[in-house]
Amino acid sequence: MNRFSSVGVFDSGIGGISVLREIHALLPDESLLYIADSKYAPYGDKGVDFIVQRSMACTEFLVSRGAKAIVMACNTATAAAVTALRACYAIPIIAMEPAVKPAVLASRNGRIGVLATAGTLKSEKFDVLVKQYADQVQVVSQPCPGLVEEIEKGDFESAALNRLLAQYLVPLLAAEVDALILGCTHYPLVRQQIARIIGDNVQIIDSGAAVARRLRQQLDEHHLLSPVNGDASVQWWTSGDVVSAEEIIGRLWANEVKVQLLPV
Ligand code: DGL
Repeated sequence: MNRFSSVGVFDSGIGGISVLREIHALLPDESLLYIADSKYAPYGDKGVDFIVQRSMACTEFLVSRGAKAIVMACNTATAAAVTALRACYAIPIIAMEPAVKPAVLASRNGRIGVLATAGTLKSEKFDVLVKQYADQVQVVSQPCPGLVEEIEKGDFESAALNRLLAQYLVPLLAAEVDALILGCTHYPLVRQQIARIIGDNVQIIDSGAAVARRLRQQLDEHHLLSPVNGDASVQWWTSGDVVSAEEIIGRLWANEVKVQLLPV
């Protein structure tokens, strides 16, 4: 493989795999490098400096392994660290943010809900996003402490996980939102469980597919798209437990995977 021939993707854990799936579906010829920074999950209740430091470490490692572009498959990391990363790296850095604009367009009753981490919801970036696209609608924001930790365990039908989901979705149902933003990349992994609670009348919206399209556009603009090659690969790293990561990621990717310990 040539140097600088892959797309590097990172998240605080397995959540970014919801984005990786969209990237792989849209760009099957791209080789992918994925970091689940699970040892340090959740990012959502950490300070900005810590998240910047982890985002830098992940990016540096991905570049050292040949990343030609970086996808921050994490809303929380984007809110805290995208400015710092872009100041340090000249390669395309594709960022992730809650899909406020699509949700406003999808809503018929002018009430939208946002599930995200506390870090994302209290960030200046989120504030700007809401002011820019949602000043004419009611935005009901719901932080979800503990949810990323439950999803990281990989048992999406556990009673604890489903109890937390119900706890966080009830206020949004009570507020009668008709569009629900999944503002954390872990949450699409439990989309079915969310839909089961929230019912058919609420549209569930995430940013994964939009990020994949943005990546394609950026690679194209920078003449970095891989030619059709048929031998694209995915390499995996975790800062957490390798054995459980191989089991959970293997299930999510519907393929046996080899996960390596992240050395940073
Ligand atoms: N997947 C991350 C996000 O999109 C999870 C954040 C966390 O680790 O708290 O925000």
